Amino acid sequence: MPSGDAILFAQLPGQTVTDLNSHLRERLLAAIADLQLPAEAAGMVRLDPPRNRDHGDVALGAFQLAKLAKQPPPKFAAELAEKIEADDVIESAVATGPFINFKFRRAAMAQQVLTAIQTEAAPYGNAAANDQVVCIDFSSPNIAKPFHIGHMRSTVLGNALCRIHRHLGATVHGINHLGDWGMPFAKMMTAYMHFGDEAKLHESAMRHMFELYKQFEGEAQKNPDLLQEAADHFKNLESGEDNVERRMWQMLRDESLKAFQGPYSRLGVTFDHITGESFFEDKMDDAMKRVEAAGVLEESEGAQVVTLKEFGIKVPCLLRKRDGTTLYHTRDLAAAFYREREFSPTRILYIVGSEQKLHFAQLKGVLEKMKEPVANAVEHVPFGLVLSKSPEGKWEKFASRSGNAVFLDEILDQAVAKVRGVIAEKNPDLEDPDAVAEHVGVSAIVFNDLKNGRIKDVKFDWDAMLAFEGETGPYVQYACARLSSILRKVDMPVPGVESIDFALLADAERVLLTMMDFATAVQRAADQSEPSIVTNYTIALAGEIHSYLADHYVVGAESAVRDARLVLVDAARRLLTTGLGLLGIKAPERM
Ligand code: ARG
Repeated sequence: MPSGDAILFAQLPGQTVTDLNSHLRERLLAAIADLQLPAEAAGMVRLDPPRNRDHGDVALGAFQLAKLAKQPPPKFAAELAEKIEADDVIESAVATGPFINFKFRRAAMAQQVLTAIQTEAAPYGNAAANDQVVCIDFSSPNIAKPFHIGHMRSTVLGNALCRIHRHLGATVHGINHLGDWGMPFAKMMTAYMHFGDEAKLHESAMRHMFELYKQFEGEAQKNPDLLQEAADHFKNLESGEDNVERRMWQMLRDESLKAFQGPYSRLGVTFDHITGESFFEDKMDDAMKRVEAAGVLEESEGAQVVTLKEFGIKVPCLLRKRDGTTLYHTRDLAAAFYREREFSPTRILYIVGSEQKLHFAQLKGVLEKMKEPVANAVEHVPFGLVLSKSPEGKWEKFASRSGNAVFLDEILDQAVAKVRGVIAEKNPDLEDPDAVAEHVGVSAIVFNDLKNGRIKDVKFDWDAMLAFEGETGPYVQYACARLSSILRKVDMPVPGVESIDFALLADAERVLLTMMDFATAVQRAADQSEPSIVTNYTIALAGEIHSYLADHYVVGAESAVRDARLVLVDAARRLLTTGLGLLGIKAPERM
C-alpha cells in the first residue's frame, strides 16, 4: 500500500476501540456470516491485546464461537483465520491453537493511531456521551474526626474514577458524602462546648478539632456522663429545631469544610455534590416508611432492624436505635433512594476502605430484601491500608504507633519540600521551581497511591515514590517534560498528519502498539474500578517512547523522517498527558 493514502473509517459515537479494530471486526463479522453461525456470534468477537506481542497485535480467543459452531476450537480458529485475507489494513491472520493472532500493516497502524491522537478522537480524546450514569461516592471524611490517610486514598481513587468514567462518555456524579451528622459529630459538639477555643478553631480547624477529639475520648473514659450529654445533644440536633446544637453544627461544619478545601484543591479534586449525612436528615423518615412498607423491618429490643441471614450476613442491619435516633446505615439507605430518584444511576460506586465491607454488604442486602432495583447498582469499591516504615524498618499501619493524626496538608508539604531539594540539586536553573515542586511532589503521592491494585496496602516509602527513575510519578512526568523539550528544540509547529509518510515509522511499532492499548486499559480500569491499570499504562508508554528515542533522534534528522517522528513524539506527549490527567495528575512542560 502506498503510504500516505487516506484510510477512512467511520468513527462511531462513544466507540472505545480504535478504527483498526473496527475494520478487523467487520471483516470477522463478514467471515462469520459466511460460516452461517447464529446471530449471537457477533457478540463473541472480542479483540484483546495478545499475551505475547511477538505473535500479533490483537488476538481473538475462539472458544465461544467454536462452541457455537460445534467444532473443536483449534479447528474452528484455523478455518476462520483462513477466511481473513490480507488487505490494506490487515497484514496477516494466523491461528495458534484456539486463538487467532492478527497483525496490522505498520503504515496503516501508524496513520490510524497518530491521526486519532492528533485529532483527539475517542478513545484518545473524550468519547461522546453514552447512557451510563455513574455516581461516585468518595473522600467523604468525618469532619468531626481527623482526616486520616484512608480518606486520602478514597479521595485520590475516587477522583481518578470520576475522570476515567467521564472520559468514556458516562455522566458522572462525584459525591462527597461528608460525615457531618450522628454521634461522632455530637461528641465533637460536646467537646467544643466544654473545651473549645474559637481563636484556635479559626486558626486551624483541623488541628483544633483533632485536639478536641482526643480530649473528649480521654475525658469520656473518666466521666461517662459526657457520652450521655453527647447523645442528648444529638437528639436536640435531630429535633429539627433552630437551637444551640443546630447553630453549633453549622459553625463547625463550615469551618471544617473550609479547612478541607486546601488539600482538595492541591489534589485537583472537585465534587459535583457535597451532600453529607446531614443532607438526609429530612429524608430518613420516608426511607424508613419504605422499609416498613416492604415488610422487612423487625423490632429487636426496642430497636428497628432488618435481618439478613438469608444473604449469609449474620449481623442484622440496625436502622433505628431504641431512643428513636438514626444511624450511619439509615442515612446511607436514604442516600441510595435519593440518588436513584435524582440521577437514575447505572452504577453507584462507594470508594471506602475494606474495613467497611460489612456495612456495604448490609446496605445492599437491605435493598435486595426490599426488592429495590437500585440494589444492583450498589458497588462497594474497597481498598487496602497505607503502611509506613517504623524506625526499625518494619511496615506498619500509618502512624498507628503514636496515635497521632495524619494531616494531609503536612504530608503534601513534606513531599513538595523533598522534590524542591531534588530540583535545587539537579536543575538549579529551572524556571519557577516552587510551582514545579508543588506539582511533582503532590503528584508523586497520588501516583504512588494509584500504582498498585487498590486492594493492596500502599507502602509510603518516600525515597521510592519520589525517585525520578523507576515506576514513579516523577518518572512519567519527566517523560512528558522530555517530549515537550524535544518539541521546543525543533522550533517548528508539529506537522499535520496529512503530510506524513507513515512508512517511516515502521520501526516505532512497539510505541504504536502500546498507544493502541490505551482503549483497553481505560475500559478495564472503569469496569474493574481499578485506576492502577491506567497508571501502569502510563509507565509502559513512557518506557516505550524512552527506548525509541534512545536510538532514534528527532532534531537533526532528515526532514521527512523528522516530521514523522515529531508527530509520534507529540502523540506520545498528548497521550501521556491524557493518561496522567485521568489519574488527576498534570504533566509539566519542564522539570
Ligand atoms: N464518613 C465515612 C467514614 O469516614 C465514609 C463514608 C463513605 N460513604 C458512604 N456513603 N457511607 O468512615
